[in-house]
Amino acid sequence: MRTDTLTILLIGSGGREHALAWKLAQSPACGRLLVAPGNPGTAAHGTNHPGLDVMDGAAVVAFCRREGVDFVVVGPEAPLVAGVVDALDAAGIPAFGPTRAAAQLEGSKGFTKELCAEFGIPTADFARFSAPEPALAYLRARGAPIVVKADGLAAGKGVVVAETLAEAEAAVANLLADPGAEVVIEEFLSGEEASFFALCDGTRAVAFGTAQDHKRVHDGDRGPNTGGMGAYSPAPILTPALEAEVMARIIQPTLDGMRARGTPFRGILYAGLMLTAEGPKLIEYNVRFGDPECQVLMPRLSGDLVPALRAAGAGDLAGVAPEWSPQAALTVVMAAPGYPGTVARGSEIRGIDAAEAAGALVFQAGTKQADGRLLADGGRVLAVTATGAGIAEAQARAYAALARIDWPEGFYRRDIGWRAVGPRSA
Ligand code: AMP
Ligand code: GLY
Repeated sequence: MRTDTLTILLIGSGGREHALAWKLAQSPACGRLLVAPGNPGTAAHGTNHPGLDVMDGAAVVAFCRREGVDFVVVGPEAPLVAGVVDALDAAGIPAFGPTRAAAQLEGSKGFTKELCAEFGIPTADFARFSAPEPALAYLRARGAPIVVKADGLAAGKGVVVAETLAEAEAAVANLLADPGAEVVIEEFLSGEEASFFALCDGTRAVAFGTAQDHKRVHDGDRGPNTGGMGAYSPAPILTPALEAEVMARIIQPTLDGMRARGTPFRGILYAGLMLTAEGPKLIEYNVRFGDPECQVLMPRLSGDLVPALRAAGAGDLAGVAPEWSPQAALTVVMAAPGYPGTVARGSEIRGIDAAEAAGALVFQAGTKQADGRLLADGGRVLAVTATGAGIAEAQARAYAALARIDWPEGFYRRDIGWRAVGPRSA
């Protein structure tokens, strides 16, 4: 091993982390790649460490010292909200990802709404409640449609877009039944949704790609919300002019506000936007790459990921200008039966090699290896990703590759990308 390369620890075990591992391992700066816990997909690009408790900052620091880790990349939100980056900072180990205080941008919806109010960042009007009576009075004064959200990390499940007042009242009663719970009630925004990513160093932000996803489980955007059944990048609706507006009116004021509060944000800021008639408005922030959005961003990033993430982590993005392929990318998630509810595990997956031979990248999420066989072991199991000259071509290639995967139990949406390219005829 060259001594000028880095030992990198990647934290996480999803499809997002498989995509990050795939990209990190291609960097000339990456010597050894360790992944904790990792999954069978990440094992192709580095060494998995399933035994490390990634929620325990002290354990992560001890692991880094033992393994000589030079740089840590944190994939999911939970270790960030638990303060793993704070522990790494205190130990002097360079890391990519926000501190616990800065991760509140995702961890608390109320925190973000109040930051928006204080710094004039466009978002839906809102109010925050911990008691049912004032919350119900507010609902009745506002009327439906209206949106009710649980405060805290809820993986998208704590959001009720209520079409009727009765639905909104039921949501408030349900969410406030837990002692100590808080709800955010907000104005219903109409428009098209898109995701915008910005690499941040505490002071500066650099645009880092756009995407659109499909949250509902079934074709035609029907059924319950999921973590995302597919995505594509770029988001055609986010024109360069709109991107500039998002940077100036949403991202930069957020960074300025977080810095002014003494909790600067370093890491990737993932803005969920509603493109309303009045301009882009923030729906929510995530403080990490999206899953499956990361699976379409990484294949489009033509430059080196490692220096960009290190510069953001070190607080110095000056001079970082990420290079993107002009190609589009699209990913289709294959999920286990029952997702997003209780899933059936253990069915065998074959044909990943055949799908990759057809030109796709198959990122693994909920899989496990047993006796030389690859088995489904989670809700979202695979993300079959392809690139193309445009979204239509990427879509055609992704579905052609997916057809080669031999996993009869798995299911997927047949209309990923419809907003960008119209209904699929096949
Ligand atoms: P969130 O977890 O805050 O991203 O909300 C999940 C989904 O609920 C979003 O992706 C939107 O589709 C929808 N949603 C959230 N807030 C609003 C809002 N204020 N108006 C309309 N739809 C919303
Ligand atoms: N795909 C949505 C998320 O990562 O939160």
